[in-house]
Amino acid sequence: MDLFRKTSAGFLLPAALAVMLAACGTSGGKTAQPVVDENSTDPNVQAAVELYKKNCLVCHGPQLEGKMANTKMDKVGATLTPDEIKNKILHGGNGMIAYKDRLSEDEIKLLTDWLASKK
Ligand code: HEC
Repeated sequence: MDLFRKTSAGFLLPAALAVMLAACGTSGGKTAQPVVDENSTDPNVQAAVELYKKNCLVCHGPQLEGKMANTKMDKVGATLTPDEIKNKILHGGNGMIAYKDRLSEDEIKLLTDWLASKK
């Protein structure tokens, strides 16, 4: 029946939304561990950390400690040159996503400069 379908959908949709929002509040929105340089006062670092949280944290970890093989980056500036870091972000590979079509040049530069300072 048409009327029945309308009312049940109207009831279910807000209920599903409420569940999703509740899930977000407890886990999705916040990370349990503090994120590296989260409290920096340098605007470039702040911007890089925001990008990091959205794009990289899931694999590289809140403290750059790495969540899987070869993803530790807390001293990446000592082992890779800024160009090598930038190329890795651009092209990915070996389990890493390529970001050349996902982030702007400016965003990649912010991330590169920030990571290159990790020595
Ligand atoms: C899907 C998981 C994943 C995501 C998301 C990810 N990476 Fe990676 N990243 C990896 C893996 C795996 C490696 C190791 C690849 C290798 O050994 O060549 C890596 C390597 C790197 C390296 C080289 C580290 C080294 O010491 O050689 C840099 C720099 C890097 N990632 C930066 C980033 C940045 C910046 C972001 C976010 C824009 C990001 N990654 C997002 C998985 C990921």
